[in-house]
Amino acid sequence: MLATCFLLPFLAVTVRAGAVEDPDIGFSLLFETAPEEFEKQCVEVSPTSKPFPTWASGDFIIPSLGVMEMGDRKMVGLLDPFGKMQKFEMKGSMVCATYRIMATGFYNASKALKTVAPSLLFFETDPPRQCPTYNPVCNLAPHAPNDNCFVNTFKVGGKILTITDSPTMLEMDPRTLQILKRHEFDKDKLEDVVRYSGSAHPVNHPVTGDWIDSVGNSNLLTGGAQINFYHLNEDDPNRRTSLGNVTFDHPPYMHSFGITENYLVLPRMPVQLSITDIMIKPLSAGFQDLKMSTPGIDNAFVLLPLDGSRKVIRAFLPLDDMLYFVHTVNAYETATDIIIDLTTSSHNPFASHGLSLPANKDKAVMRHKFTPEVVKRFVIPLQEGKPVVASVISDPRTSTDFTKINPRFAGKKHCFFWAVENKHGGESYASIAIVKYDLCYGSPAKHWFRQSWYPSEALMIPSSEPSAAEDDGILVFTALDGAADQSYLMTVDAQTMEIRSEAGPFPRVGFTTHGQFYAAGAWGGQEIVEDSLIV
Ligand SMILES: *[C@@H]1O[C@H](CO)[C@@H](O)[C@H](O)[C@H]1NC(C)=O
Ligand SMILES: *[C@@H]1O[C@H](CO)[C@@H](O)[C@H](O)[C@H]1NC(C)=O
Ligand SMILES: [Fe+2]
Repeated sequence: MLATCFLLPFLAVTVRAGAVEDPDIGFSLLFETAPEEFEKQCVEVSPTSKPFPTWASGDFIIPSLGVMEMGDRKMVGLLDPFGKMQKFEMKGSMVCATYRIMATGFYNASKALKTVAPSLLFFETDPPRQCPTYNPVCNLAPHAPNDNCFVNTFKVGGKILTITDSPTMLEMDPRTLQILKRHEFDKDKLEDVVRYSGSAHPVNHPVTGDWIDSVGNSNLLTGGAQINFYHLNEDDPNRRTSLGNVTFDHPPYMHSFGITENYLVLPRMPVQLSITDIMIKPLSAGFQDLKMSTPGIDNAFVLLPLDGSRKVIRAFLPLDDMLYFVHTVNAYETATDIIIDLTTSSHNPFASHGLSLPANKDKAVMRHKFTPEVVKRFVIPLQEGKPVVASVISDPRTSTDFTKINPRFAGKKHCFFWAVENKHGGESYASIAIVKYDLCYGSPAKHWFRQSWYPSEALMIPSSEPSAAEDDGILVFTALDGAADQSYLMTVDAQTMEIRSEAGPFPRVGFTTHGQFYAAGAWGGQEIVEDSLIV
């Protein structure tokens, strides 16, 4: 008894002292296997929390890394692990969580083989896999399903589809998060023999609201590529309707793109995906810098008219402004220009330290060697030949990505954006805040930050009030309490950046990709949090 009384205060002091000495505590847990799976684990929000507004009733679905190894082999690439889905149902003062490892074809095959099955990976596993000599392309279709599509989700025709930067999509049951099957498209002319890409960030058509995405086809004879854009229809999600195409001399890689009233805005970074290399090497070897001696289409924006009636506009960037980018914040049109805000870096982001699991777990590398990302605004004149003007719109001492705007302002002039800010306060990469930027009224950036807590992308759910301001709404995200190894569902007031609610603890959510909100009723019928188990 005495010993316990004596020991407990001592232990508490040790833990607190440890947290001060190691502000990065628990960051590496984001890159460890998080095996827990369950359905509807419900908790009440913490006593000081505000309940969810009625317009924020619904599901927050966010994918993450799930399982980092199988049998004797460990994943090495950051985006190679088996994906996992998390759903948080928000209603009143309750949050019910469902976690599920994605039973993709890749995961199923790996489990059956008790090792990492054939598949394209960003980096080779440790120890490496080897294709048999009689089948050197064992990581390509039809030998491998290549369906570890866990980067993003979207809803079309009452289905939820999970996607990554490939033409492959999976259908998922939004209630149980079970993977149902591969999503098949009707036979069309969009895919050639060597289809190699899609975007994990489809956009909505400004008039019809239809989802727009692309299929990239490489031409092995010319070495070039054609990117075909299409839209999906709510009534017929298996049919893709062509919206136009662009050809390039080298296969481009476009993780995201923009849309305005009249144009698709395609940023082209000076990198090619070498198809012949990825047939036999890990994907990372395929992202090759293009050597340029004069400004040209390999470092440029292409404006593709949505209705085909206008001409395609190409705007080259100067060679001292190489367009390395990842995410599109938003794009819109003025009378004379197209404005697009992008998260950018000074080097090819697909050849960076940040994309390896061991680098993220190695404190020295993670703290000091990651290339920071800055958000840049590009003003692209609609008159061809005039120069593109770029400016930095995020704090360059930090690394800013996973941007979000009020979704009602997509394709329109926006004044605010929110983002994940690594290197918060110029500190460690693991010092992570959620930041709000004001681009119109000159107010300084506002932050939500907690030492040793690691937030996910913060999704902006706008208020449904008719008089609501652009920044009137809430931000929803998960956050890992690094010292406790537990995750919480957080909401923050999007205007003030003050905490509104926290709910948890839930088992750890690993490194997350893109969260989406599906308003209550999205799946039809009853989905109310009622008599579920309270833990
Ligand atoms: C993987 O196996 C599970 C369980 O048998 C099944 O439900 C799921 O549909 C399979 N995944 C695919 C993509 O076929
Ligand atoms: C590509 O665009 C051209 C016109 O610019 C069109 O003739 C052709 O059919 C398109 N191809 C596909 C596959 O959509
Ligand atoms: Fe993304």
